[in-house]
Order: sequence, then C-alpha cells, then structure tokens
Amino acid sequence: MTPLPRVVGAETLDGLAEDDPSAMRSRRDLQRVHRVMGTRSILLRALRDWPLPRSGTAPLRVLELGAGDGSLMLRVARELAPAWSCVELTLLDRQALVAPGTVRQYARLGWTASCTRMDVLDWVAGPAQAPGMGDSGPCWDVIVANLFLHHFQGRELAELLRAVAARCSHFLACEPRRGRLALIGSHLIGALGANAVTRGDAVLSVHAGFRGQELGALWPQAEATWKLQEGPAGWFSHCLRAVRAGPS
Ligand SMILES: C[S@@+](CC[C@H](N)C(=O)[O-])C[C@H]1O[C@@H](n2cnc3c(N)ncnc32)[C@H](O)[C@@H]1O
Repeated sequence: MTPLPRVVGAETLDGLAEDDPSAMRSRRDLQRVHRVMGTRSILLRALRDWPLPRSGTAPLRVLELGAGDGSLMLRVARELAPAWSCVELTLLDRQALVAPGTVRQYARLGWTASCTRMDVLDWVAGPAQAPGMGDSGPCWDVIVANLFLHHFQGRELAELLRAVAARCSHFLACEPRRGRLALIGSHLIGALGANAVTRGDAVLSVHAGFRGQELGALWPQAEATWKLQEGPAGWFSHCLRAVRAGPS
C-alpha cells in the first residue's frame, strides 16, 4: 500500500481566539483524545527510562513546547513526581491557556510551573542559553513536544529541531502517526463527542503526522553525539526520543 504523503494544513483551532467557545470545547475534547491515544502512558514510559543528570540539589529543568493548557503534562507530572521531585517546568505556547489552578496543582507536586507566551519560531531565533546560564551546557534537561511538531514542515521544522538539539540533553516528541489506522481513527473521533473543530483538526493532524525515521532524518547529528529512537507508539502515535550521549 502506498504510504500517505505528508501534507501540513492550517488547523482551525490555531486560528481561533483563546476564549472562543468552540476552541475551549476543542481543548477539552483534546483531553479525551489523549486518553484514547494513551498519550500519558506513552510519555511516562519514555520519560521514566531516562537516567537524568542531577547536579546536587539543582532542579530538573523541563520545557514543553506548544504546551496548550498544560493539562496533559500535569497528568504525567502526577505519576512522575515521586521520582522527579524537584522540577522547574516551563510551558511555552503562543496562546495563554494555562489556568492559575493548573499551576497550583503543579506546585502541590513540588513542580514550579511557569508559562511563556511566545511563538516557538521566536524561541528558535532567540539565544541558545537561558540568561545567566553561561557556557555550562544545554539549558534544559528535558524538552517535550506533544502533538506539536506536526504543525511545521520544511526549513521551519529543521530549524526547530536544530534549536531543540542545541538547548537540551533529552528530547521527547509524541506526534500523530501518519498511517491508515490513525486516519480511520481520526474520522471516528466524533464518537467521543468531539466538536467540528476537533473532528476536522484530527484528520488534518494525521495527514501532517510522521512515520518511519522522518524526524530523526532532520535531527542535527553533527552538533553532538545523539542516541535517537524513533517509531510507532501505541495505536496512533509516533515518537522520537533523543538523548545527548556526547559533548556538543
Ligand atoms: C494540538 S495542541 C497540543 C497541546 C498540548 N501539547 C497537548 O498535547 O495537549 C497544539 C498547541 O500548539 C500551540 N502552537 C501552535 N503553533 C505554535 C507556535 N508557532 N508557537 C507556539 N505554540 C504554538 C497551539 O497554541 C496549541 O496550544
């Protein structure tokens, strides 16, 4: 069977205001979609595996790109918190979607969550080191992207991955898998009670998703020795895990 070609289309949710009722409803739909996709378990399996560097009492620095309302990472944090007890989490998104109550729930787990409202392409164009970090290595221990990279293609996607590789020691992306099963699933999403925005965007997301080694092929190998693992995860997802194994 011929593989589906990758086609990136503008998703309706991205064009709606933060407080548009259909956008708010679609973001709630997304939480149900994550349950069906098993996203939380997929992320936990990948993250728990990593022997993360700890220097003394320094907190673990985690960045989520395109974090949305921060609710998916919160569900992950609840499971991770016993092992990852002191985390500085930055939730980056171009919309301000994280409720104060969500930040408080992170705080109860011992995680300090802060929100950065920014277009990721501005983040890519910005400095590789956080202010005050000097030359002490990558500024993030972990960068995570969920249902986010598929918004990008071509040079933008390559530049985004290059910026990620320059700024972290561990990277995990969990994206839609571009395949027939996921496509059928995306057409059935109305059965979850999803609204028209979610139903349309789900199909677009699968067409814009990834398969094979497509993300790894764009990873900037020259900048450090990285250990990459890429492939299907669960029924509908496609993951890239990248661990820095050598000096930059
Ligand atoms: C499909 S949602 C995923 C949200 C969350 N990661 C999750 O899995 O529940 C994609 C998110 O990416 C954000 N986004 C899209 N393009 C962006 C960009 N260029 N810069 C920053 N955020 C962006 C959107 O605002 C949205 O919150």
